[in-house]
Amino acid sequence: MTKERWLQERRSDPYWRKAKEMGLPSRAAFKLMDIQKRYRVVREGDFVLDLGAAPGGMTAVASEYVGEKGLVVAVDREEVKVRDRKNVVCVNADVFAYNLHGVIMKASGNRMFDTIISDLSPRHSGDYDLLAVQQLDLLERTLEIASALLKRRGNLVVKAFEHPTLRQIENRMRRMFFQYYRYVPRASKKRSSEIFLIGLGYRGFYRPREASRGRV
Ligand SMILES: C[S@@+](CC[C@H](N)C(=O)[O-])C[C@H]1O[C@@H](n2cnc3c(N)ncnc32)[C@H](O)[C@@H]1O
Repeated sequence: MTKERWLQERRSDPYWRKAKEMGLPSRAAFKLMDIQKRYRVVREGDFVLDLGAAPGGMTAVASEYVGEKGLVVAVDREEVKVRDRKNVVCVNADVFAYNLHGVIMKASGNRMFDTIISDLSPRHSGDYDLLAVQQLDLLERTLEIASALLKRRGNLVVKAFEHPTLRQIENRMRRMFFQYYRYVPRASKKRSSEIFLIGLGYRGFYRPREASRGRV
């Protein structure tokens, strides 16, 4: 797509225009609003971890939902443009960084999270299979982070792209959460194969039977 065509498409996008009018950093804000309306993934006072947060549409919306008693830790390797909000802490990092868990826990004051949102996605080169494989890496990493930092009974919202390889992630999410849903928000572009996987009620860590044997 040429730059001119891309700009034209953006100008005629009602979600982009509305985000601009409302002073929101991106149209992604409306995806979280739609998910929240349907599944109530974030509550007042919650601690929310927002992965792939830049430029910050979802961060801005999550910060409203959690209110002054809650906190949003927004992680991205790009700049998150949500400023002057006391309940938002930005962490400029790559999610594959070896010390990520420590950095995030420091940002949250050592509190685990009630909800994790991941809108992480690689840059689209035009090769759809490559995009799906790269996205799978980000999904695996998100599940790893959730296993370490999500509270028991917490929620996970994660962006994926439809692809046969997605089945393995979905099976894992079905095992990790009491309830599992797939949802396409209205603000997702019609020609995109984007989908959000939603896990409600993290079951917590289960020690495999073998490992628990012989323990007092
Ligand atoms: C679709 S954008 C996120 C939009 C954002 N959630 C919002 O509401 O405005 C995807 C983001 O994932 C981030 N990302 C992709 N891979 C990453 C990685 N390995 N570490 C950190 N951020 C990454 C990109 O920098 C980009 O900002």
